[in-house]
Amino acid sequence: GPDDQKVQRNPRPEYIPGKIQDPRYVRVFDTTLRDGEQSPGATLTSTEKVQIATNLAKLGVDIIEAGFPIASPDDLEAVRNIAKVVGNKVYEDGYVPVICGLSRANEKDIACAWEGVRHAVRPRIHTFIATSPIHMEYKLKKTPDEVVNIAVKAVKFAKSLGCEDIEFSPEDAGRSEPEFLYRILKAVVDAGATTINIPDTVGFCLPDEFGRLIKGIKENVIDVSANDAIISTHCQNDLGLSTANSLAGIANGARQVECTINGIGERAGNASLEEIAMSVIMRGQNQLNGAYMGVNPVYIYQTSRMVSEYSGMLVQPHKAIVGANAFAHESGIHQDGMLKNKSTYEIIAPETIGVFRDEDDCGVVMGKHSGRHALKSKLGQMGVTLADDQLNAFFDRFKLVAETKTGGVSDVELMALLRDEMEVE
Ligand code: KIV
Repeated sequence: GPDDQKVQRNPRPEYIPGKIQDPRYVRVFDTTLRDGEQSPGATLTSTEKVQIATNLAKLGVDIIEAGFPIASPDDLEAVRNIAKVVGNKVYEDGYVPVICGLSRANEKDIACAWEGVRHAVRPRIHTFIATSPIHMEYKLKKTPDEVVNIAVKAVKFAKSLGCEDIEFSPEDAGRSEPEFLYRILKAVVDAGATTINIPDTVGFCLPDEFGRLIKGIKENVIDVSANDAIISTHCQNDLGLSTANSLAGIANGARQVECTINGIGERAGNASLEEIAMSVIMRGQNQLNGAYMGVNPVYIYQTSRMVSEYSGMLVQPHKAIVGANAFAHESGIHQDGMLKNKSTYEIIAPETIGVFRDEDDCGVVMGKHSGRHALKSKLGQMGVTLADDQLNAFFDRFKLVAETKTGGVSDVELMALLRDEMEVE
């Protein structure tokens, strides 16, 4: 299993709130237990949350958003447990994860979030208020000036409690006026915010647009010489662009990404941790100016299964990285390629993410698109060798059966078919 695998990784820079220690390092902020749990139909018990948080820590997540403590006594209890258990343990590469709690921008929420996270070695409070014209006018019924004042007061209050690590999010940033964002973000950084998170709350932005937004914030808000705050992304998936937008954010200077396991989250979900992490691992060196993360990918599959099982949110079969078909091959041409060399149709070796296959298993699924080569190889794995004319005859029969089957022909069905074929002969 994953615990037995030693994975070579770049050393993780020291964690100091708001400080970039290595300009190439991108922090992973997992919000499976907060935004993920807000998926319609997903509820997790406190025990399940601690187990998931433990797995996230093994996976190398830098910051775990453990919940929204004011939402319910259960939420507060879960955040407190995670802070005490996971937030006080040194994990594999010597890292103690940051434990974060969400709060609206008011004193009651913030005090409650602090009550949850303060037991961790590295506690963080995440506070937010909406900044888009639509949200300010219809939801908050506040003027932009009022919103700036509330945000600044909230950050100062969090700081007054003794919290050194404060994240601020202008909700619906994707539809906010950039100039107003610069103004409110500068004000909260001056007040003590160490991470400024940019949520595309309704998943509205296109990648270029979101990248430009991050670039503008970097140029207009961050004082590079003071190294005073880290920019973060939080991309929802309403247009299916959350991974692309998060990567555009990284390309333009974001050094924290918010994401969830299996991409669960409100409505169409959040950016998927496994997709972003594997994109950065596979392409970061060449395509993202050397960006890297502290993620140990060998725990990806195990964590994905755990989150799916506990939350009841099934993973679609063709989901990138963790779907049941992510390493399965049905077409004859692909199967032939895979049998010759696995890198023909797999860019990631499945064991990288903790999917351990037998040496001679290359994910070939026997179905109506399978070719003769795959059938021969499959039979070989089952200890059966047929002469060429027998194989040809059996292949025709197999194809007739496979055409009637959705979901492919299982090993047991293939064996039964072969037995029948031999008897007929
Ligand atoms: O989507 C959103 O805007 C959020 C914020 C609280 C970060 O979840």
